[in-house]
Amino acid sequence: MADFTGNHILSVNQFDREAIDKIFTVADSMAPYAKRQKRTEVLNGAILGNLFFEPSTRTRVSFGTAFNLLGGEVRETTGMDNSALAKGESLYDTARVLSGYSDIIAMRHPFAGSVAEFAEGSRVPVINGGDGANEHPTQALLDLFTIKRELEYHGKGIDGLHIAMIGDLRYGRTVHSLCKLLCLYKDIHFTLISPNELGMPQPIIDTVANAGHKLTITEQLEGNMDADICYQTRIQEERFPSQDEANKYRGKFRLNQDIYTKHFQSKTVIMHPLPRDSRVEANELDNDLNLNPKLAIFRQTDNGVLVRMALFALTLGVDHLVSKYERDV
Ligand code: CP
Repeated sequence: MADFTGNHILSVNQFDREAIDKIFTVADSMAPYAKRQKRTEVLNGAILGNLFFEPSTRTRVSFGTAFNLLGGEVRETTGMDNSALAKGESLYDTARVLSGYSDIIAMRHPFAGSVAEFAEGSRVPVINGGDGANEHPTQALLDLFTIKRELEYHGKGIDGLHIAMIGDLRYGRTVHSLCKLLCLYKDIHFTLISPNELGMPQPIIDTVANAGHKLTITEQLEGNMDADICYQTRIQEERFPSQDEANKYRGKFRLNQDIYTKHFQSKTVIMHPLPRDSRVEANELDNDLNLNPKLAIFRQTDNGVLVRMALFALTLGVDHLVSKYERDV
């Protein structure tokens, strides 16, 4: 996928390393606009349809912010109940209609495959903001962008990375997408830590194994790990068959400063797609890590704006015009 213009972004399977390098180069160039040091109106007059049929803070708001920072306007629909989907309208019809009102659409939906189904009816590019337990491609891109930036600090690249993924690897769509993206690099060591029942889906394990990467699968944190990245996840309660089933796993995968010191080295960067469940019975990423300089969770959220600005600029074919349409700050 070297040419982004007019294309949907539905899965990380679309990307090769050349495409990722392009996204990251454009994302880097967006920093002065995101920091309000410069202003551009390259998307003046353009409209983003921001459709979120499942709860979201970061993805929804950062898509909107990214579009606004490029000079465009945002129309939001949030919650299934506020849409004619609640009256039985199909995703195809909804897409035909809403794509007549927008230049591009970002969408989150609770069912796997639903965003791709919607895209079939859309007359404008659609970006997947998360479809059930399937994929979250823009989160994976911002995670990879963050990994790249964090490792650069240590003079390292992504090739040769050791990443530990912890928690609900079955329903956590961000780790599915990130695993697939990392498979494009060389000599990655994946340490997957979860109970068997919440393990990484077999097709993703097969993708990692077939790409020749090193896999360590375990049910709990053991010893002192030489991981560059510790990627913690939330138990995705909303995707379990029942609350009782979800409760079995709540609080099993806590990370706090003591556990970090015992199992990781001081170089290990701590990531989490957020939200972290701060309720006492879960608390998978303790506040006592907030002052740990290796906690990258809020650098991830900031990077999300840069990556989403890059995706809008590339998909709408204006990446080369951003500086031409600069205005006074
Ligand atoms: N990481 C993420 O998808 O967060 P939100 O659910 O808040 O969008």
